[in-house]
Amino acid sequence: MFSKEIYTQRRSVLRQKIGSGLILIPGNLESPMNYRDNTYHFRQNSTFLYFFGLDLPGMIGVIDVDNNRDWIYANEVDIEDIIWMGPQKSVTEQAQIVGIEATAPLEKIERTIESAIQNGRRIHFLPPYRAENQEQLGSLLGIKSYKVKQYDSLALIHACIEMRSVKDAFEIAEIEKACAIGYEMHVTAMKMAQPGIVEQQIAGLIEGIALSKGAGTSFPTILTQNGETLHNHNHAFTLEAGRLMLVDAGAESNGHYASDFTRTIPVGGKFSDKQRDIYNIVLAANNQTLALAKPGITYQSIHLQAATVIASGLKELGLMKGDVDEAVANGAHALFLPHGLGHMMGLDVHDMEDYGQVHVGYDDEIRPIDQFGTAYLRMGRRLQPGFVVTNEPGIYFIPALIEKWEKEKINANFINFGKVKEYLGFGGIRLEDDLLVTETGARILGNRIPINPEEVEAVVVGGRLQ
Ligand code: GLY
Ligand code: MN
Ligand code: MN
Repeated sequence: MFSKEIYTQRRSVLRQKIGSGLILIPGNLESPMNYRDNTYHFRQNSTFLYFFGLDLPGMIGVIDVDNNRDWIYANEVDIEDIIWMGPQKSVTEQAQIVGIEATAPLEKIERTIESAIQNGRRIHFLPPYRAENQEQLGSLLGIKSYKVKQYDSLALIHACIEMRSVKDAFEIAEIEKACAIGYEMHVTAMKMAQPGIVEQQIAGLIEGIALSKGAGTSFPTILTQNGETLHNHNHAFTLEAGRLMLVDAGAESNGHYASDFTRTIPVGGKFSDKQRDIYNIVLAANNQTLALAKPGITYQSIHLQAATVIASGLKELGLMKGDVDEAVANGAHALFLPHGLGHMMGLDVHDMEDYGQVHVGYDDEIRPIDQFGTAYLRMGRRLQPGFVVTNEPGIYFIPALIEKWEKEKINANFINFGKVKEYLGFGGIRLEDDLLVTETGARILGNRIPINPEEVEAVVVGGRLQ
């Protein structure tokens, strides 16, 4: 948690941006896993964390813009709670930690909202992403829960995005803590990338690192020899010498900021020539993104330049053909790179995605490109100092996609399908770093996890010798 001044200042800035009305920011509730008292790991709502800092379930934050007053609505613990959970601070004591004097029991919020509605005041809230919060908002606002999203506040969405997109020094320090944990997770995975080990053994161990040093993982770990499946959460296979293991994993710091890294590792410690050639193309796209990222440039244009590096590398290897710029303009590279170059990162691994990606990653000037592959780019707009974005190009050989494109002759002018089919079973390569946009360029957050092929091989071999 940051100092109370930070939260007070953030709420004051938000008040000025919104101008009038009542801002309602519900925190998350406990969510049952298989029965009421056996809940999922509690994760606070990120907007609530940003403005109210408190990491407890069942609270609602209210920013009364017209009366210049902030509230925490929450119920005091009772003796039963104390028996099961131990002594707790009172709601008033909790609220004071983040600079709030006004508190009330949850039931009182109904009257506050009723009277705001009667007085014709605008109630601003964000689109809920959990069923429990959607229900809660529906009943507080007197609307059917499935209609709640129709009434969310675009003004509040834009104000929150404007504030949360630019990370301050305290937030960067928190992200760097998450990056340090991520570094250890990935180097551990590299050392363990030995034939005979089951993927699950590595996944479990690195998730344990995330839990032992922070708040756990920032998203479900992807660790697989079948890296062509972009979000592969199956960890059941035994590692085989000569295959590639893709690891996309990150940590959440105790202050709830994320890291998100991907490395692709040769099982046993030696890339084949074929693997190394593809790896070096992805690495070149990653390095070029780092070199290009700076304030004022659009991430959409950097995505397309990464796609150009990939297309020209694949052309050199004989997998693509024709004019490279034309191939990229036609989306031919998306056979191999069917996802975006990156996304914002902060309190959420895909930061603020609950607000609606088109608002977070795009604006009036830069609109999403509706073309297979590039349509998945979550972040397209101009970079500003303080933005944190991921840099995650990849090349994948997805049998079903290759078969579909060949059968339907999609981009047949730019793809050598005969050659591509020699790569069936190759898997996929993704290399992901987290970037902070600075005044003049961009820098990698945290120590860069080994990425040059020789460095990666040395770490795997080092792991074998231990
Ligand atoms: N970890 C998912 C992603 O890289 O976006
Ligand atoms: Mn990732
Ligand atoms: Mn990512």
